[in-house]
Amino acid sequence: MQESLIIEEFANAGYQVSPDAVALIGSYSAPDTIVSKVLQSLDDSVLVVGREHLNLGGVKIPEKPTDKLAEKVAAKLSRPAHAPAVNILSDISNESTCIGEYSEFVRYFRDRYTRLSGIIRGRITARPIESLRARHSGREYDSVSIIGMVSDVRTTSNGNKLLEIEDPTGSFLVLVRPSDRDLWAIASGIVHDEVIGVTGSITRDGHLMIVKSIVLPDLPNRYNQMLPDNGNRHKRSPPTPRPVGWGINGSEHGNGDSAAGCAVLISDVHIGSDTFLGDAFSDFIDWLGDGPEPVQYLVIAGDIVDGVGIYPGQESELEIPDVYDQYRRAAEYLGRVPKNIRIIIAPGNHDAVRLAEPQPALPEKIRSIFSDDVIFTGNPALVEICGVRILIYHGRSMDDLIATIPKMSYQRPELVMIEMLKRRHLAPMYGGRVSIAPENSDHFVIDRVPHILHCGHVHTIGMDHYKGVTVVNSGTWQSQTDFQKRMNLDPVPAHATIVDLATLGTKMVKFA
Ligand SMILES: [Fe+2]
Repeated sequence: MQESLIIEEFANAGYQVSPDAVALIGSYSAPDTIVSKVLQSLDDSVLVVGREHLNLGGVKIPEKPTDKLAEKVAAKLSRPAHAPAVNILSDISNESTCIGEYSEFVRYFRDRYTRLSGIIRGRITARPIESLRARHSGREYDSVSIIGMVSDVRTTSNGNKLLEIEDPTGSFLVLVRPSDRDLWAIASGIVHDEVIGVTGSITRDGHLMIVKSIVLPDLPNRYNQMLPDNGNRHKRSPPTPRPVGWGINGSEHGNGDSAAGCAVLISDVHIGSDTFLGDAFSDFIDWLGDGPEPVQYLVIAGDIVDGVGIYPGQESELEIPDVYDQYRRAAEYLGRVPKNIRIIIAPGNHDAVRLAEPQPALPEKIRSIFSDDVIFTGNPALVEICGVRILIYHGRSMDDLIATIPKMSYQRPELVMIEMLKRRHLAPMYGGRVSIAPENSDHFVIDRVPHILHCGHVHTIGMDHYKGVTVVNSGTWQSQTDFQKRMNLDPVPAHATIVDLATLGTKMVKFA
């Protein structure tokens, strides 16, 4: 007997019934018999039937059922009947104005410089670059600071790092010597077009700064301000990195009475590809409805379908050759997600929307294929759910960052995502794999610090915490493609990340 039928039986008799009573009754092999016996034993003083009323002819039902069904049923019944709300804080959708003119690029990079230099300016007292030469009088300045966008990075024959940085007043060469190992290591990771602050001494000829310190925009060291404001602050303990397969850290604080519930993060489903893992994804969809976690949100960070014409020869690797049919299949899967779970979908580079980033939400023609209550955002997008800010970014810039920053790899996407946080920018390098559309403002700047940064794209999983921000790369639902074989890329498919929205504790679940 399903739990809904148990509730209905009591309702027909004029009683409400508590979830734990339903769970207990539902855990037995003949729940209909138990329901009729309980109904016979009730008197008019009872309005809500609880576990205390489950005493049948002197033979009390044991408090603890022998299996976990009751636990699952209770969790399911405690879920809200309707999908919860989503507050979209930042998204390019419906706001795109650019047509790609030169003046728009100038405005775009000025906006980037202004906002990122503003963050750094709170930490160092910088002067305009033009003032360095104007004030130069043949003597060495001991300690001056400037803030600029990196226009060139070179390594000299002596192993020095030579950077050219620009602000609106001019450009200047700054040099980092290998003898200062820590500083040199930071300089080695600096990429084109990021904004940095440098402090150092100016040489007598007034043309070069010898750098003593480098300041990145970075996140503030203010962990407590990162608590989600969802009424569960008292339950929060600082999250600590946990390897895949561990339980929700902090779940000891949640103990099932969290008002916030859980968000499940996935990405790169690639429906339509002949390497899409349909059985595993189907198991995942079933789990959303049946699992013990009180799931309230499903967040998909792009590449929900494999798309068409994404790379040469892709047509021979498609099970569904029509992109609209791919989205129809996706809608069929997502149509099985319980209605009390809010689905949020952002696009990726395989989706049917412009490739230039920031990408707007999928077009209406595709959105209309899905249920009305699915929320479509752009890429990137900052959303707030239960007081928790999730920055969703598909992650194409990781290709550029992995190729440029030492020690980065496709096997450790979480480290690349931490590099984004240090730069307060999701895609700092212009002219690489990411095609950047020069919008009015730079949507990749991380102004408002999220609680969670959720990416995909690289098809490997990773999870870590950096200065209070949880970073998650949620892998893929596609096994290794021929292209990935040729590139020696080993995907980690069929994982979902569960985030407890009260504690920000995380765990990954495997469905293969
Ligand atoms: Fe992908």
